[in-house]
Amino acid sequence: MVTIFLGPPGVGKGTQAKRFADDRGWAHVSTGDLLRQARREGTPLGRQAQAFMDAGELVPDELILGLVREHLDALGSAARVIFDGFPRTVPQAEGLNDLLAGLSRQVDAVVLFEADDETLIKRIAGRRSCPHCDRVYNVHFTPPAREGVCDACGHALTHRADDQADTVRRRLEVYRELTEPLIGYYEMEGPRPVRIDAERPVADVQAALGRALDAHPGGGGS
Ligand code: AP5
Repeated sequence: MVTIFLGPPGVGKGTQAKRFADDRGWAHVSTGDLLRQARREGTPLGRQAQAFMDAGELVPDELILGLVREHLDALGSAARVIFDGFPRTVPQAEGLNDLLAGLSRQVDAVVLFEADDETLIKRIAGRRSCPHCDRVYNVHFTPPAREGVCDACGHALTHRADDQADTVRRRLEVYRELTEPLIGYYEMEGPRPVRIDAERPVADVQAALGRALDAHPGGGGS
């Protein structure tokens, strides 16, 4: 089962993908997390991606598809996988179809998370991330037990460089311009996106997601 989590920045894709993957034993592939890891490690990909990410622009499709190809090879054919924040352009969606066809696989489900811009901006402003283990908190909604410190590994939490107000505005524009057309693409090509109201609290969104994927052909079970 190959599932895509689609939606604007800050809507909660990563939060839900981590919970679902942990609960059900699925693989979770976040291109944003992989790029941040590449930056931390100072790899050639990380150095190439840095300027695009800091400006709120998308990293070029060919770099992203190369990164995903490596991951798919490593996952093997049996894995149930969630792609979080990928694909983000129509050429990425077409490239993913080609990669999966080579493995006799396909995209089985697309989940579209929806929330108002006001909600997205508040969530992003309150987000704090652990640069060491990538765990994500929110000062308004899901704070760590000790202010500014990661519950999981004890490192100091940071505000992502691309979570500054100007960059967030640009990320939202880029989403509307380049990623939103994917909704029409999947409506036409299938699988038809399943819409989830992501305005609600984390646990309610999680329950709605579980129901939607459990009802899906191919199943959400572990
Ligand atoms: P990426 O890291 O993928 O960022 P994004 O898609 O913009 O998504 P976010 O991580 O901002 O949000 P999210 O939806 O995961 O929300 P989260 O769960 O954290 O990409 C970063 C950059 O990398 C891109 O700008 C681009 O440059 C590059 N990139 C990545 N993939 C690429 C690709 N495929 N192609 C090209 N470039 C690519 O939640 C947000 C906050 O809200 C958190 O604090 C969370 O705790 C809180 N929260 C979550 N859900 C709820 C809720 N229901 N109620 C209250 N609070 C909530």
